[in-house]
Amino acid sequence: MASKDSTVGTIVVAVVLCIVCSVIVSTAAVMLKPAQQANKQKDFQGSILAAAGLLQADKTVEEQFESVTTKLVDLDSGKYTDGDPKQFDQRQAAKDPATSEELSDSEDLAKISRRENTSAVYLINNDVGDLDKIILPIRGYGLWSTLYGFIALESDLNTIAGIGFYEHGETPGLGGEVDNPRWKQIWIGKEIYDDQGDVSIKVIKGQASPNDDYAVDGLSGATLTSKGVNNLVQFWLGEEGFKSYLSNLKEGDA
Ligand SMILES: Cc1cc2nc3c(=O)[nH]c(=O)nc-3n(C[C@H](O)[C@H](O)[C@H](O)COP(=O)(O)O)c2cc1C
Repeated sequence: MASKDSTVGTIVVAVVLCIVCSVIVSTAAVMLKPAQQANKQKDFQGSILAAAGLLQADKTVEEQFESVTTKLVDLDSGKYTDGDPKQFDQRQAAKDPATSEELSDSEDLAKISRRENTSAVYLINNDVGDLDKIILPIRGYGLWSTLYGFIALESDLNTIAGIGFYEHGETPGLGGEVDNPRWKQIWIGKEIYDDQGDVSIKVIKGQASPNDDYAVDGLSGATLTSKGVNNLVQFWLGEEGFKSYLSNLKEGDA
């Protein structure tokens, strides 16, 4: 047998060590995957509740998410579509040419290149079964990254109940201030559509008047991220996004 101090011995020890370590790492990765996915789903569900201002610390996310009904919407017709929301992967749908459409430059306000044909929407009813809040997924490019988030609307389908981004790569302290609770608070109570039904919500440079129903303060030192948020919100509430669905829902015909 080769001595452990010989060249062969050193190679054998190194190879055995590599095999043992790789078995440990891959076993851990496989075994932890379900827990990671469950945590990811919990975070996602928590972000939906948080956007609507409904996330409570004293209850589990799973418990609270039971009050949320997820439905799938065909974004072109603005009507509900068949399919199991639990199996629906919206990010994958947005990438696949079979389930998404390429946006022209003039359509692509949010700078997302492709828009999925179907989107999930999240509905919360009140105690008597009427719609209380609706939460819509939104995304678009800021300065450095695509921001992924949710916008929540009150039951009039026009007043903002909250907004939040659960994933982005903007600079902390600059564009990253999209996560600042004080900034998110400014959105609450603002309106999306004007009397003509046009998307009027906007993020302006500087400070907006609290009496302005449609304007939200820009983030200081982060004009480009602010512009990105302005564009993505306008995109998703406009013709290419949820406008026809919200109008159908208002008419009771979604
Ligand atoms: C390291 C670094 C990081 C920056 N990160 C952001 C950012 O996340 N979002 C943003 O809009 N601007 C960011 N900026 C600033 C932009 O380059 C640009 O100057 C700014 O958007 C202009 O905004 P202002 O007109 O409010 O000053 C960053 C600049 C530097 C040097």
